[in-house]
Amino acid sequence: MNIIEFESKEQLGKEAAAIIAHAIAAKPDAVLGLATGGTPIDTYKELIQLHQAHQLSFKQTKTINLDEYAGLDPEHENSYMTYMKRHLFDHIDLPQGQYFLPNGNAAHLEKECLRYDQLIEDVGGIDLQLLGIGQNGHIGFNEPGTPFNSKTHVVQLDENTRQANARYFSSIDEVPTHAITMGIASILSSKKILLLASGKSKAKVIQYLEQAEIHPDFPASALKLHEDVTVLIDREAGSLR
Ligand code: F6R
Repeated sequence: MNIIEFESKEQLGKEAAAIIAHAIAAKPDAVLGLATGGTPIDTYKELIQLHQAHQLSFKQTKTINLDEYAGLDPEHENSYMTYMKRHLFDHIDLPQGQYFLPNGNAAHLEKECLRYDQLIEDVGGIDLQLLGIGQNGHIGFNEPGTPFNSKTHVVQLDENTRQANARYFSSIDEVPTHAITMGIASILSSKKILLLASGKSKAKVIQYLEQAEIHPDFPASALKLHEDVTVLIDREAGSLR
């Protein structure tokens, strides 16, 4: 695992976008695994700028998001579909039908998980997976204790995670209790992984990630089993190293 530290979260975002742009330049029909949350917003802003400067096209690219809340309509203002449209898809030339998220509102969530795994297989697997990290070490919504052989599955969200995400909802009661997430095995099957962490609130988890033994109690430790993981952090996230 290669950890690279930047002065600011904006610089981190620039570098992450450059890595993604490079992957698309090398393989225009690359499959990108994408994440939501606060961390990748700077990266998405940079990708939009590169696109607007005619330096990057997503016309042949496909994207597969990590996760989606259960019980929210894709059009709901807090769904991850809405997040992705707002922060990326509406501003680039990625054709409709080439971006995918789990449908958290599917009638049969278990079937939806199987459909999503099949989709990942059908597109030929993920070339570059972008990840954030939760304060408890979760990746995607794989909370502590998730088996490393898990594929896409329904999860009950940790209270800790619901609290952290409550900032986007009008009250904690509105934060869904469940989600669909790609599993640890799905994440590890990506060819290349790029994990981003910024801000003081991530300092402890980054310190722990470097030292942690590989164990399901700390889901991000599974990344140590993968041979091509780059971790980009800003100075604040690296402050306890
Ligand atoms: C989001 C996701 C989560 C977040 C993590 C960090 O799709 O899968 O694992 O990456 O919760 O969230 P932020 O970036 O808001 O700190």
